[in-house]
Amino acid sequence: MKILVTGGAGFIGSHVVDAYIVAGHSVAVIDNLKTGFERNVNPKARFYKVDITDAVAVNEVFKKEQPDVVNHHAAIAEVVKSITEPLPTYTVNVLGTINVLMAFGQYGAKTGARFIFSSTGGAIYGNAKELPATEQTPAAPLTAYGMSKLLGEEVITFYAHQFAFTPIIFRYPNVYGPRQNPKGEAGVVAIFVGAMLRGETPTIFGDGKKTRDYVYVADITKANVTALTLGDHEIINIGSGQETSDDQIFEATAAAAGFKGAVTYAPHREGEVLRISIAAPKAKKLFGWQPTMVLKDGVLEVASQIRKTGNN
Ligand SMILES: NC(=O)c1ccc[n+]([C@@H]2O[C@H](COP(=O)([O-])OP(=O)(O)OC[C@H]3O[C@@H](n4cnc5c(N)ncnc54)[C@H](O)[C@@H]3O)[C@@H](O)[C@H]2O)c1
Repeated sequence: MKILVTGGAGFIGSHVVDAYIVAGHSVAVIDNLKTGFERNVNPKARFYKVDITDAVAVNEVFKKEQPDVVNHHAAIAEVVKSITEPLPTYTVNVLGTINVLMAFGQYGAKTGARFIFSSTGGAIYGNAKELPATEQTPAAPLTAYGMSKLLGEEVITFYAHQFAFTPIIFRYPNVYGPRQNPKGEAGVVAIFVGAMLRGETPTIFGDGKKTRDYVYVADITKANVTALTLGDHEIINIGSGQETSDDQIFEATAAAAGFKGAVTYAPHREGEVLRISIAAPKAKKLFGWQPTMVLKDGVLEVASQIRKTGNN
């Protein structure tokens, strides 16, 4: 298949690109390198340093590539910052997504073509009344980031009917693994391990009791490979259904990094949900998907990668 991955120089997107190439597909990558790195891009992929808000440049890539599948991972994923600075998030995550969809409609989208999207269970369900959240849990985002992903889902569903392609929308949990940026705003595993390996004290925002659902990036990649052939106009949760607290993440990362110090607690940040876990029975039924990596082992992989790449 000819596949175009947006955000393919980023953390998750680059792993998806690698898996598609291993599976024998022809892959092109669009990324503006805002939070991604060219070193993450598989050398067998064709790389276009293009901003998805630039409709003309996006169109040129699609004209050349004419992909059968678009896997859309490019986004601004700064959850807390999106509250006070919402416009860049909406511009990239909504208008940028529309540019990608319009270009796909013009060059590539046809019956049988697919559009795979990385939405968020962690930010769309807000402080859900019942956990784990299912696809039936009402969307109630607390931030512009969560709202932008919900709007992204809506525009994709709209254009899927206009252009007759098949959309697969994944609502991810907290994804962690090698290549996650240890200096970003999101990605607590990489941030904690990165800080610990630099000899710095990591900070927990809140009382240490807030929870997230952590899934290793290779498990996320598996779902993206299966979505090339299975599923039809789906919104699919991806998650373990398990809550892990910030204190538990501190313990796991300290063990992996050999960190003997204490953690610092800072006030809770507006926009961060208090508890979340995401049930994925639909992914299991449709895709045979379930997470396989144990948190302790996944965190060791992150520590090993950050040690190797020099923590940048
Ligand atoms: N990491 C998670 O836990 C998580 C959870 C839910 C959803 N997601 C979604 O998965 C996707 C990938 O997230 P990630 O964690 O790999 O983050 P990331 O920042 O590593 O990847 C995003 C990529 O998009 C690129 N990008 C940003 N703006 C762009 C633009 N205007 N034009 C072209 N490229 C642009 C960045 O350079 C980067 O390479 C995002 O859409 C994010 O919202 C991630």
